[in-house]
Amino acid sequence: MDLKNYIAAVENFPKEGILFRDITPLMLDGEAYKYAADQFSQFAKEKGATLIVGPEARGFIFGCPVAVNLGIGFAPVRKPGKLPRESVTVSYDLEYGSNSLSLHSDAVKPGDKVVIIDDLLATGGTMNAAIQLVEKLGGEVVGLAFLIELDDLKGRELLKGYDVKTLIHY
Ligand code: PRP
Ligand code: ADE
Repeated sequence: MDLKNYIAAVENFPKEGILFRDITPLMLDGEAYKYAADQFSQFAKEKGATLIVGPEARGFIFGCPVAVNLGIGFAPVRKPGKLPRESVTVSYDLEYGSNSLSLHSDAVKPGDKVVIIDDLLATGGTMNAAIQLVEKLGGEVVGLAFLIELDDLKGRELLKGYDVKTLIHY
């Protein structure tokens, strides 16, 4: 199945000069959505994952079906002020300014084999922060999976040393 047929390109969103890759047509097509989730599930199974982690918000869309498929847990990585209990937090630089992400401290058990799933790899800043959160809690990051990778932004270089699976390249 050619998943590119289900991704819409939107010019100048959310800012002038950005070509936004919109995944919502893929989610609307049950067969394409299931195909993508099954590809991720196969990868996570091969890596022996015991936990799936996904960054807010679009990481939930692909991470949760994989966790359900494999019968393992899902832990959300969230933006500031959203998690109600004790959490670990990391800050990272964006093109302009900075951002931070958090994960509940009890979400990862030492020795957990974690696959982190997100919809899109751009600069890699979000995924790099998610990796740091998992590793702070003693988890082993055994794989990273994305629906889309924007090759020109070279996010993969920030993720050197990790097994990265991507279903669509632009
Ligand atoms: C988008 C996307 C990834 C991230 C990729 O999320 O879903 O998580 O950007 O960019 P990076 O590789 O440069 O870090 P966004 O922050 O727009 O949040 P959303 O999922 O809540 O829309
Ligand atoms: N997140 C970061 N860059 C993006 C893009 N070009 N399209 C969709 N989501 C993004």
